[in-house]
Amino acid sequence: MNNIEKRMQELIDKINKASYEYYVNDNPSITDQEYDDYYRELLTLEEKYPELKKEDSPTLRVGGKVIDKFEKVYHKYPMLSFDDIFNEDEIILFVERVRKTCPNATYTLEPKMDGLSGSLIYEKGILVRGATRGDGLVGEDITHNVKTIKSIPLKLNKPIDIEVRGEIYMSKKSFEECNKERSANNEQLFANPRNAAAGSVRQLDSSIAAKRNLDFMAYFLPNPGDYSIKTQAESLKFLKDLGFKTNYKLNGYAKDVKEIINYIDDLAIKRKSLPFEIDGVVLKVDSLFDEEKLGFTQRVPRWGIAYKFPAEEVLTTLKEIKFTVGRTGKITPNAIFNPVHVAGSLVSKATLHNEDYCIEKDIRVGDIISVRKAGDVIPEVVEVKKERRTENLSKFEMIEECPMCGSKLIKIDANHYCKNTLCPARKIESLIHFASRDTMNIEGLGERIIEDFYNLGFITEISDIYLLPNHKEDLMELEGFGEKSVNNLLESIEISKNNSLEKVLFALGIRYVGKKTAKILASYYKNIDNIINAPLEELININDIGETIAKSIRSYFDNQKNIVLIDDLKKLGVNFEYLSTGKSEKLTGQTYVLTGSLIKYKRDELTKILEDLGAKVTSSVTKKTTAVIVGDKPGSKYDKALKLGIKIYKEEDIEELLA
Ligand code: IVH
Repeated sequence: MNNIEKRMQELIDKINKASYEYYVNDNPSITDQEYDDYYRELLTLEEKYPELKKEDSPTLRVGGKVIDKFEKVYHKYPMLSFDDIFNEDEIILFVERVRKTCPNATYTLEPKMDGLSGSLIYEKGILVRGATRGDGLVGEDITHNVKTIKSIPLKLNKPIDIEVRGEIYMSKKSFEECNKERSANNEQLFANPRNAAAGSVRQLDSSIAAKRNLDFMAYFLPNPGDYSIKTQAESLKFLKDLGFKTNYKLNGYAKDVKEIINYIDDLAIKRKSLPFEIDGVVLKVDSLFDEEKLGFTQRVPRWGIAYKFPAEEVLTTLKEIKFTVGRTGKITPNAIFNPVHVAGSLVSKATLHNEDYCIEKDIRVGDIISVRKAGDVIPEVVEVKKERRTENLSKFEMIEECPMCGSKLIKIDANHYCKNTLCPARKIESLIHFASRDTMNIEGLGERIIEDFYNLGFITEISDIYLLPNHKEDLMELEGFGEKSVNNLLESIEISKNNSLEKVLFALGIRYVGKKTAKILASYYKNIDNIINAPLEELININDIGETIAKSIRSYFDNQKNIVLIDDLKKLGVNFEYLSTGKSEKLTGQTYVLTGSLIKYKRDELTKILEDLGAKVTSSVTKKTTAVIVGDKPGSKYDKALKLGIKIYKEEDIEELLA
């Protein structure tokens, strides 16, 4: 090595060490001035002697590499995640389940980082690839962006081959800075740090990720045995020694449920003051030998679980109750409140379902209400703070007329309906539903465009969607539309004609026929004509359909107007046949009950296998049960099955059933 090369290596080592102290240990070791001087000197040398540039040079972190597309990455070991649990009972169940196989198991407890999981591959200690989780088997190559994350070592402290997994995240501080800048540039704000991190690693241009100040917390080795590691705690220590940021100050250790709960309570208190978002606690059986014994179900490891913190509740003031009309004519009261940040995003409305719900809650405009996001997604009003009511607020009153067309509303069970089939709100909602992602999935035909097209008279009936190609020239004249967007829209409409029966069935908006029922009907009847002609009794007898749904289906197809619509759609080329997915669904529409202790299968494993084949697994035996699968010492469910004459499978018969 000549002197220049030596100096370059010296600078790299100084800068990387300083970065490690700053970004991993949160403990700056040199001044900014010193850092800048070293950096500039290195940059100058690299410009002059590009052939001497090293793979772990910190100058690689600035980004600048732009890729055309994300390459696929096949994970050597599947990137799984854990099952989620939400309360103490589920923790107890998990610990009991583990104890059955591993009576002396202990646990590492780790903050559940709220970002996105990433995989890093090192060869001889040099970072060669970074990838997203994707579907767990195939992810996307994000090496160019990962290299910009300063807490990710470009070179490890040991020259080994290794895969490291952890969470790519954005700190609360960087998130705020990022949104401040976006706001100044009139760009749409990120809802939360997780979305911001995910959006940043999915950039083709790495200089964008470089600016976003992402971070990486290492927490998992897929092949710890290769390094003679025997426990998860040792894995974490090993990762720290390699140069990774780990949560070593926050991670914990527990022997039983009590210690687990203490850790969770403690972390919940610290949560607000942490520099990053967490959404729970990850529990992992510590001994890797125990982990191996516990193994995996078809989907998730049995040796770990993710406890999620309860949804955050925020107080706000109810400004208005606004009534909307759904596609079935159902009227929904909605709470409109002062916008508040809940679980990482700004919300200002939540459904109040129906009149009974509002009366039961005694919700009044002007009330202080607490709001949370159910499942961290859908906003809901949890409670009305009646003790904080100061003035005489008016009681909730249900409207009597449709807010869109003025028709008198009709009450059916708990809900009010506008029965005017020509009500514009109903029409627009039914069109939106028809084109939406879960139904015909017509890209470019979202809510706003449908409203505009309806008001302009291009689409008033569902079938008009497929007549849009006749208006191509007119559409291109519209503001915001060009030839390209119109072509894309028309192509998307054309593609939607080939959807399988269940999509169009769900899209038609038959009352009570949601995604699941549509799938059951489609796979049972195979084409729309068979459904149109299906007698009520036959429909009732299909598992999961029942009388209410069956009657609704019959009433829809007994209406001549709907038959005309289906004929029109057929003439326009829309497919009404069931196109099997290729995946075996031979048990669709069947219901199984498991009883007694099974030997070969774990109960949840067999449940999953049956469900994957389309079956439903329930806990009680009824007339509708297809068969009962009995293990050792079956209980009363077995007796009931015998009494009802329901088919019985022994565990050894299952193979045949599944074959
Ligand atoms: S271990 C087999 N440890 O939460 C799962 N995951 O279900 C190995 N996560 O998708 C992952 N913090 O993205 C692990 N300390 C932690 C974690 C963590 C966050 C994420 C991860 C995974 C999900 C767990």
